[in-house]
Amino acid sequence: MTTSGTKTTAADITADAVASFDGCADPRTRELMQAFVAHLHAFATEVRLTEDEWRSMIAVLTQTGDITDERRQEFILWSDALGLSMLVDALAHDLPPGATESTVLGPFYVPGAPEREYGESMAEEAGAGTPAWVHGRVLDLDGNPVAGAELDVWQNGADQLYAVQRPEAPEHHLRGRYRTREDGGYAFIAVRPVPYPIPDDGPVGRMLAATGRHPWRPAHIHMIIRAPGHRTVTTHIFDARSDYLDSDTVFAVKPSLQRDFRERAADDPERPPGIDGGWVSLESDIVLTRGDAGGDVSDPGRTA
Ligand code: BEZ
Ligand code: FE
Repeated sequence: MTTSGTKTTAADITADAVASFDGCADPRTRELMQAFVAHLHAFATEVRLTEDEWRSMIAVLTQTGDITDERRQEFILWSDALGLSMLVDALAHDLPPGATESTVLGPFYVPGAPEREYGESMAEEAGAGTPAWVHGRVLDLDGNPVAGAELDVWQNGADQLYAVQRPEAPEHHLRGRYRTREDGGYAFIAVRPVPYPIPDDGPVGRMLAATGRHPWRPAHIHMIIRAPGHRTVTTHIFDARSDYLDSDTVFAVKPSLQRDFRERAADDPERPPGIDGGWVSLESDIVLTRGDAGGDVSDPGRTA
């Protein structure tokens, strides 16, 4: 409380706002709100936030609400572009060394991809891109195979777009759920992914342009791997030769997730059934940690 007759300082205002939550019955809510208000006030104080700047920030938040609907989640895009999504992911998934690292889910995941056979293609349209034979094993930390694990996979095509961004695309184009065999092996036909810009026609895109940042992500394939008795992992396989690995606009690249795509000729004797012409192959093992599945980060509200 400030004392009558003395000048009220900026610090007095912060102290009052923080103390307003002292009576909050739930200790975690109290901790979150008091720390949030203290850091918000510290930010404004540190940069000596002007009234015009404060009004601009309110306008940006209003535009973010206006552009957000069930197909576009601009608030999460802010979280992604400011590195907060990756920070929260890192705090939640402190996995032991050797386990496959997690990374951001992104807005293009749609639950309910079709179950597909070992080696089946996810491409439901011709011309989706260069066919890619993606294979490997799901193992535990001791190197034992994990049979019956589910790989929920999705990716963009050579046109840079995910099927969910193109209303005319078949619903299940470039996505599918695969199961590992007894030896932990999995395989599917994808297409070679290409770099693409995150949705940049809204407030996040304007922030990137105004600050000299680009909106691009390096080429990658998304996966969520689930197996009974193991922690669920949401991750990517990155093309180790892609552009933007050093400047992913959502900070999601981890060195352990980069893999080489190997170029193959049409007459390569290892060409799998279902592939015609030139193709690429990629081998990537996945290592799971024992434990509860943990919260599934997939959120149906997060489509593009
Ligand atoms: C994605 O990889 O699909 C993605 C992640 C964060 C923001 C936008 C896209
Ligand atoms: Fe993506």
